[in-house]
Amino acid sequence: IKEAGINFADLEPDSFDLPMGFATGAGVIFGNSGGVSEAVVRYAAGKLNLDVPETVDLMPTYLDKGFKSAEIDTPIGKLRFAVVHGLKRAHELAEKIEKGEEYYDVIEVMACPGGCIGGAGQPIASSVQHRATRAETINNTDKMMSIHRSQDNPYMKELYETFLKEPNSDKAHELLHTHYHSRKRIEDEEIQFFDASDDSRCKVKVCVGTSCFLRGAQEILGHTLKTVADNGWNRYFEVAATFCTENCDKGPTITIGDQVVHKATIADVDRILGEEAKKREA
Ligand code: SF4
Ligand code: FES
Repeated sequence: IKEAGINFADLEPDSFDLPMGFATGAGVIFGNSGGVSEAVVRYAAGKLNLDVPETVDLMPTYLDKGFKSAEIDTPIGKLRFAVVHGLKRAHELAEKIEKGEEYYDVIEVMACPGGCIGGAGQPIASSVQHRATRAETINNTDKMMSIHRSQDNPYMKELYETFLKEPNSDKAHELLHTHYHSRKRIEDEEIQFFDASDDSRCKVKVCVGTSCFLRGAQEILGHTLKTVADNGWNRYFEVAATFCTENCDKGPTITIGDQVVHKATIADVDRILGEEAKKREA
């Protein structure tokens, strides 16, 4: 920003560019945990003729608890909502759903405490009170706006009529949705622990990318290095720490020779190193 010669303090206030610069109340409340669900209800209310106010507030005060559920009666049955913020609580909820202990039609997860109001784009708000004040401000802003439902946004209407055609059309899906997969942030980097001068040695690679690290890769790497050193196996093995192998959900991931081991344990390391050392001793 500085390199481009922009000084925020000198900028004249200006409105955002259209069409994205125009928001309805449903767009504004997205900033609060719970706001996405409420925007969904507002949208569904229009489609299903539900008897709920346009500024429906499903979960007015729940910030401190981090989880809240709600139900709404509709002509097609009860709609069950769950709203959670914080990934630990999201994980707990996902486990309950997996075990069949909970069921919801709409599940909203916000990674940051309280939603985007407690997210990285804001000055850090470490207290619940700060976040509650921001949430209240957002809810009051919604109440002051003249349009509360996304489907009534004239710019979005025009966009769908002239270009995207209908919600979830192929075009909308292609342009507005995304897909997630494990992705390495560092390309082809390795840290060698033993001199790799002998090509006949078995290559041991331990992924120490963030996900594998959090799942115990550091301990596995330490154990591998100690095992090789204690047994005098430096002539058999070449050990390296690698970065992400794009198997993050299956970590810690290690590669020993041709074997790729996911969810690797110390016992796996002992067993495979032992087998490989035996082959080389023979
Ligand atoms: S990560 Fe945080 S700031 Fe970003 S969209 Fe999610 S809740 Fe909002
Ligand atoms: S961190 Fe992605 S596979 Fe290890």
